[in-house]
Amino acid sequence: MTVLNAAQWWAREDLRIDGDRLVFAGRPVADLVRQFGSPTFFYSAKRVLSNAERLHSCFRDAGLEGRSRIHYAMKANRFAPLLTFLKGTGLVGIDACSPNEVEHAIACGFRAEEISFTNTSLSPRDLRRLAGIDGLRINLDSIGAIRSWGTLAPGSRIGIRVNPGLGIGRTSNDKLSYSGDQTTKFGIYREQFDDALEMADRHNLTVDTIHFHCGCGYLTPQLEALDRILEEANWFVRRCPTTRSVNLGGGLGVPHQATDEPLDLHRWASLLVQHFGSTELALEIEPGDYLVKDAGILALSVCGNEVKRRTRFVSVDAGFNVAIEPAMYGLPFEPVPALWRRGPLELVTVVGNINEALDVWATDVPLPSLEEGDCLALINAGAYSSSMASNHCMRGDWKEFLLFDE
Ligand SMILES: Cc1ncc(COP(=O)(O)O)c(C=O)c1O
Repeated sequence: MTVLNAAQWWAREDLRIDGDRLVFAGRPVADLVRQFGSPTFFYSAKRVLSNAERLHSCFRDAGLEGRSRIHYAMKANRFAPLLTFLKGTGLVGIDACSPNEVEHAIACGFRAEEISFTNTSLSPRDLRRLAGIDGLRINLDSIGAIRSWGTLAPGSRIGIRVNPGLGIGRTSNDKLSYSGDQTTKFGIYREQFDDALEMADRHNLTVDTIHFHCGCGYLTPQLEALDRILEEANWFVRRCPTTRSVNLGGGLGVPHQATDEPLDLHRWASLLVQHFGSTELALEIEPGDYLVKDAGILALSVCGNEVKRRTRFVSVDAGFNVAIEPAMYGLPFEPVPALWRRGPLELVTVVGNINEALDVWATDVPLPSLEEGDCLALINAGAYSSSMASNHCMRGDWKEFLLFDE
């Protein structure tokens, strides 16, 4: 089947079709692949910086400068040059979720004081390692973890991750919700909160942070849900008078397809002002996606193009094991050819090189004609791709580069 046009909704100054070539971070993607091969992740330092600056100016415009902090959720992408670059911007600290992540962030230049740790299911070994890192800020999410931490570090300051019992996420994708109707392992619910505070008190721990992270990928249509979450979070804050800061976690999303309405950051910030503006609480966020997702592409090479029954399959030289979000969370990636040939577009299904039925990058997408050896870029591959990649089928041999504008 042929179609006439496809909106390049994703186009922006540093990612666009110039003539017939896809250009990313000032370079034709086809040249990048010629030089570095495929499959390869390319990240744009300039885009990461502008994402961080946009968040900062949004806090400033909302009058929250000086009392807001951004911790980059390094689980989204822990590529060392990227972390080192982020450290150099001076704009963000780190959200880490394992002792190894903390040590990696420190090796990339972050001081322990700049790192906020939040995770679940911590083993005694994890807790001992974390307690040995002076200056690290820790948010605990179970009564057992508070008890263990109290034994290891009595008299210290902690945050408590709470579960407001309300979820949020891109569209109505339940897989992206961390605290919705279904009971989850994350955080302490209202019913246990007094017990958690009592446990902290028993060990002379001061609870100075209320933390919550309710889901991933939310955009403007989900801001009403965020409003209710913030209302609920305030219940926990009011119950804990030693609270000095509220950590809203991550979850700020970026568009994945033409129909996605981008997150209106100013409306987002006005909700923070509405709920916390009259307090003196510091406000912290832990974005992963928002900082790095749209700053990355995965460049692939086309291995085949043929029709089976009524479907035209374009096969490429990497599969879902190197970027698992489309298969695992149903989060679509946009495939864009490095060479945009003129002529009618065709509906194609882009598939990878892994022996699993779910190894499908995109279904029925309108693309110009593609030939063996052509290069295809998957955009929005900057977060939760390389960091979650596996060696399934022993096809884990991808590369990654951080690009600085020439
Ligand atoms: C506790 C916590 N903070 C921050 C994040 C980052 O989320 P996102 O990349 O959606 O901003 C996550 C993601 O799972 C998380 O679990």
